[in-house]
Amino acid sequence: MTFDRKIKIAPSILSADFADFGREIQAIEAQGADWVHVDVMDGHFVPNLTFGPPAVAAFRKHVGTVMDVHLMIAPVDPYIQAFADAGADIITAHVEAGPHIHRTLQAIRAAGKKAGVALNPGTPAESVAHLLDLADLVCVMTVNPGYGGQKFLDMTAKIRRLREMIGDREIHIEIDGGVDPGTAPLVAAAGADVLVAGSAVFRGGSVSNSAPYGENICAIRQAAEGALA
Ligand code: DX5
Ligand code: ZN
Repeated sequence: MTFDRKIKIAPSILSADFADFGREIQAIEAQGADWVHVDVMDGHFVPNLTFGPPAVAAFRKHVGTVMDVHLMIAPVDPYIQAFADAGADIITAHVEAGPHIHRTLQAIRAAGKKAGVALNPGTPAESVAHLLDLADLVCVMTVNPGYGGQKFLDMTAKIRRLREMIGDREIHIEIDGGVDPGTAPLVAAAGADVLVAGSAVFRGGSVSNSAPYGENICAIRQAAEGALA
């Protein structure tokens, strides 16, 4: 993975057809997805359950781009190796998931993966101030994690602050939750480069009618890039 700050669209397969992940992943990549975002939920850190390492390993076979695995689980450390073995390129853990996020990021890098740190809406930018040398990505949640299709929460000031804190470091700023062509310009202008979108990518399409996925991805990308022009 080479680093750049170009806008990247990362569809969340949380909004895909759960009986057809392989073809859904192929469809979003064929329609222009830059990364594939995989939301892992444990019914404990967040009030919803999704997939574990064997499912993620099965997804990997269909991912030709970057598999971005967002762990909404606590504890997280006992599962890092399993998600690394499942083929994640990036593993993101929440700063709120336990007292030892520093150790968690070290462990992700030790497993040979890019390390991400996610912040819930109520968590300040400063919570990652002492973690930046261990992070390849900071994920700013613009919804409370747990479900797709929630209303966007404006975290623009936090994103700007993180962009200042990051400076020239090669750290992506990823936005997760409620991203659509209306909200993408706000987060792009504030300094985000990776836009996760679930419902706004998958709406209106299916594996047998995937052109809407491409139109949706294009619309989000154009709105974000328009804010940078
Ligand atoms: C929320 C997840 C998101 C979610 C985004 O807990 O981390 O990735 O799927 O879905 P939308 O884009 O529908 O808000
Ligand atoms: Zn996510």
